[in-house]
Amino acid sequence: MSLKKIQIGKHNLQNNAFLAPMAGITDASFRKLATRFGAGMVVSEMIASASLAAGQPEMLRRIRASSDDPHIVQLSGNQARWLELGAKMAADAGADIIDINMGCPSKKVTNGLAGAGLMREPEKALRLIETIVSSTDLPVTLKMRLGWDENSINAAQIATSAVNAGVKMITVHGRTRQQFYRGKANWRLVRPVVEAIEVPVVVNGDIVDATSAKEALAQSCASAVMIGRAIYGQPWLIGQIGNALAGKKPINAPTGDDLLELIKTHYEMMLSEYGEHLGVLGARKHLVWYFDAANIKIDKQQSRSLLTNTNPKQVIIMIEQIFSKQKAKAA
Ligand SMILES: Cc1cc2nc3c(=O)[nH]c(=O)nc-3n(C[C@H](O)[C@H](O)[C@H](O)COP(=O)(O)O)c2cc1C
Repeated sequence: MSLKKIQIGKHNLQNNAFLAPMAGITDASFRKLATRFGAGMVVSEMIASASLAAGQPEMLRRIRASSDDPHIVQLSGNQARWLELGAKMAADAGADIIDINMGCPSKKVTNGLAGAGLMREPEKALRLIETIVSSTDLPVTLKMRLGWDENSINAAQIATSAVNAGVKMITVHGRTRQQFYRGKANWRLVRPVVEAIEVPVVVNGDIVDATSAKEALAQSCASAVMIGRAIYGQPWLIGQIGNALAGKKPINAPTGDDLLELIKTHYEMMLSEYGEHLGVLGARKHLVWYFDAANIKIDKQQSRSLLTNTNPKQVIIMIEQIFSKQKAKAA
C-alpha cells in the first residue's frame, strides 16, 4: 500500500497515522508522547468556543500548545461569534490549524446543535464553517461522523460544501451520531466522502493496529487513519501504525525499565500540565491503562492505593515497587 504524504497549508504531516482528539485524554502531555513516538499528527482536545470566550480555565488549558508541530486546535460550538473569537484565540495561542468538531455525540453538545448535532442542520453547519474559514488565515479542517442516523447519511454532501468553503482535510468517524460508540465503525461508508472531494480524507473508528489500519484504508480509500481508544496505555501505537503504513521498521513497544521510565515521565508531565492535585487525579486512568496494556497484574490493595493516594512521590514509589515485583517474578 503506497500512501501519499499529506500537506495542509504549509505543514507536511510526518506520516499517515494520526492521534484522535479525545477530551480528558489527549492533553498536551499525551500528545507530546505520541509525537515523540512518531504520530503523524495530533489534535487538541475539543474546545467549547463559548466557554473559551468566557475564559474557562479548562478550555484555556486545552488550547495551549505542547510541542505539537503543527499545533491543531479543535473548536466546537454553534454560534458564529464564539467560533470566530475561538479561531482568533487559537491563533494567538500558536495554533497552526483549526479543526472543527462535528462529531461529538454527547447530548449536552448536540442539544445545543454543536458537535454531531450540526450534521442534522447542514445549512447552519455550512454557515459556521464559512465563518471560521473567513475569520482566520489558518488552514481549517473538519471532523465528523457519517450522519445523524442511518436514514440520514450525509457526510459526503456536507464534506462537499465544506471543501467548497475552503476546508482542507476531512476526518470521518464511520458511525452515525445515533450509534454513539455502539456497533462497528463502517469504513466502507467513508468511501463516498473520498469520492466526492479532492482534499485528503481520514478514516476513523475501531482502528486498533496496522492490520485494521490497512483494512480501513482499503475499504474507504482514505488517505490516512486516525486512532483513538486503542492508544489507552500505549502512546507509541500511532507511531507503530504510521511506520507500518510507510513500510518502515516497526517501533518496539517499550517494556520493563523503559516502560517504567515512560510511565514516570508521563506522570511528571501531567503534574506540570495540571498542577499537583488535578495532575494526580488525571493520571490515575493512564496508570491503570498502562498496567492493563502491558498485562501487569496488580492486586486489589495495590490498585486501591494507586487510585486513592494523593501524594505523587508515594505514587511513583508504588509504581516502582509494582515494576520490581514484576521483574522478580519474571527472573
Ligand atoms: C473519551 C473520548 C473523548 C473524545 N473526545 C473527542 C473530542 O474532544 N473531539 C473529537 O472530535 N472527538 C472526540 N472523541 C471521538 C474520537 O476522536 C474518535 O472519533 C472515536 O473515539 C472513534 O475512534 P476510535 O474507535 O479509534 O476510538 C472522543 C472519544 C472518546 C472515547
